[in-house]
Amino acid sequence: MTLQNHIVMSPMTTWSSNEDQTVSDAEIKYYGARAKSAGMVITGSSHVQENGVGFANELGVYDDRFVPGLTKLATAIKAGGARAVLQLNHAGDKALPQFISNHDVVSSSAVSALQTAFAPAQTPRALTESEILQVIHDFGFATKRAIKAGFDGVEIHGAHGFLIQNFLSPHYNQRTDKWGGNLKNRLRFAMAVVDEVQKVVSEYADSSFIIGYRITLEEREDDGLRLSDTEALIKKLIKKQIGYLHLSLGNALTSHSHYDDNSEPFIQRISKLVGMCQVLVGCASN
Ligand SMILES: Cc1cc2nc3c(=O)[nH]c(=O)nc-3n(C[C@H](O)[C@H](O)[C@H](O)COP(=O)(O)O)c2cc1C
Repeated sequence: MTLQNHIVMSPMTTWSSNEDQTVSDAEIKYYGARAKSAGMVITGSSHVQENGVGFANELGVYDDRFVPGLTKLATAIKAGGARAVLQLNHAGDKALPQFISNHDVVSSSAVSALQTAFAPAQTPRALTESEILQVIHDFGFATKRAIKAGFDGVEIHGAHGFLIQNFLSPHYNQRTDKWGGNLKNRLRFAMAVVDEVQKVVSEYADSSFIIGYRITLEEREDDGLRLSDTEALIKKLIKKQIGYLHLSLGNALTSHSHYDDNSEPFIQRISKLVGMCQVLVGCASN
């Protein structure tokens, strides 16, 4: 994929989709204006299941009824000369119950989530095995809709404590089946989502379609996600030939792990890990 310049617009929820979660005219105007100065525009998160909604007036992608609006959005971004990437998400234990039928908030396990700036403190319900498989398929269906709408790529939102991270996290994932426990099992959900998205892309998109993956490196909880977990994830994503890795960092240049003695900035550590592999690394931080 060739970009018109080196600027990538980081995904930012607009809180301005229509009440029915379809793309609004205001969003089309907003993204269209910015697409003129960016090489690639990543949309704010769009939820792949009804109960995966993380923000009020967030883009939906869990049903075919969203495709006409998403088509207008992709067209507006591309008209500005930028590549259009749809961010796909399930908010997991940070989903907003007021926008979900029966307030059914789900996660890897029924572990209480702390209040965030956007989501209430709440205890989700653990997904069943068949529901896990359904979420994975729904990431695939969402990808198919993104392709149909004319996007140039999708970004899998594996960061910010949403569902994919709920599975990766040793704190939030307390499952005792093959989806939880040791690192290999905790990685299984993320890898299954990537596999499904790649399968759909190979079937329905051309070879220039890009798949990115957004990453949070660590969690604050004493028994939470650690850099060693994330490094294992990154190695697997590289093996799967992911299009790009998108690190979401508090501070790219000075931050270092709170939990080990290595004071090397995250971005340097990850760059070394990625080494000579042909994978793009992007990073957003303040
Ligand atoms: C208003 C707003 C909405 C955001 N929405 C999303 C989102 O939908 N998905 C996501 O991965 N990150 C989201 N982010 C995080 C940004 O992509 C980015 O990582 C963060 O703002 C740090 O970069 P900055 O210091 O340049 O702002 C959002 C940030 C802001 C300010």
